Amino acid sequence: MSEALFTLAQAVERLADGGVVAMPTETVYGLAADAEQAAAVAQIFSIKGRPADHPLIVHVLGQAQASHYAAQLPAFALALMAAFWPGPLTLIVPRRDGVATAAAGGQASIGLRAPNHPTAQALLEACLARGIHGLAAPSANRFGRVSPTSAAHVLDEFDGQVAVLDGGACRVGIESTIIDCTRAAPVLLRPGDIAVPALNRVLAPLGLEVQSAESAAGTAPKASGTLAAHYAPRARLRLMDAATLQTALDVLDAEAARMATYSRAILHSNNPKLLRRSMPAQAQAAAQELFAVLRELDAAGVDLIWVETPPADASWDGVRDRLQRAAAAR
Ligand code: TXA
Ligand code: MG
Repeated sequence: MSEALFTLAQAVERLADGGVVAMPTETVYGLAADAEQAAAVAQIFSIKGRPADHPLIVHVLGQAQASHYAAQLPAFALALMAAFWPGPLTLIVPRRDGVATAAAGGQASIGLRAPNHPTAQALLEACLARGIHGLAAPSANRFGRVSPTSAAHVLDEFDGQVAVLDGGACRVGIESTIIDCTRAAPVLLRPGDIAVPALNRVLAPLGLEVQSAESAAGTAPKASGTLAAHYAPRARLRLMDAATLQTALDVLDAEAARMATYSRAILHSNNPKLLRRSMPAQAQAAAQELFAVLRELDAAGVDLIWVETPPADASWDGVRDRLQRAAAAR
């Protein structure tokens, strides 16, 4: 059956019936189901082609609904919620026994996020009125591929087989920052729009700061977005500094490949077929367009995408992370 754009009422009906609907958030589109219907959650895993032990994020309206899923909320998690919810921040907290087990991929913890998007919030409110406390939703793309930042991307990704609630183009453009709150100190599992300096300003009064996943003791839980190779376009992506990129262009046989560049530096090339996209100077603008640019270059049929390494500044951590994982994919 071919699906299309759904109204809010149709989306709520489908979700209450144990079905799956793609929903907009401020970061990327999510593939949503009632977090407490195991059969509905199983459909998410099968549509995405995602291993069933990779936990999903549960989207909630706010702290009250988070408490339905959490066994406890540590003081620093409450401080982060108060500062950044609703917003692009996912908190991994201890899970209440017997709640949303399938959505959590069997982990003893659960990832929770309150999205800051009017359509997502309206959907969550309508669901709550039907007794649904939260929506499990990973990014609405096939496992390992580029996340969708528009309704058209979702329709394209699943050949129109998934119903979509259209909320326009996503404002943030890359997935949420993920903080593990199951240990004594907060651990960064995935960088995003909310950068480490901003998190640390909230944590400092509690005498805490964000730890890197590498430095944190113990084994980190499974997280698809933290696999070395992820977020990959079909074309091969390579990251290099501006000078290396220019040198590579100079020596490349013009007919060697159908290729594209994505850089802040202005590059020179004699290849008339080279597709050139300029990367915005601001990290947030680059994040907003990143996945759309990768999809667009894939659609243009290029085999290679050469990308200028983003600046070292913390505000670029999210964009740099996604590009490094895309470059590692092949
Ligand atoms: O911005 C976002 O976070 C988007 C939108 C839709 O909200 N969602 C998203 O979901 O990126 P997904 O499933 O593609 O990535 C969620 C990440 C995964 O790497 C997952 O493994 C991790 O969060 N995660 C979820 N629950 C977890 C848990 N209990 N422990 C460790 N990692 C968890
Ligand atoms: Mg994803």
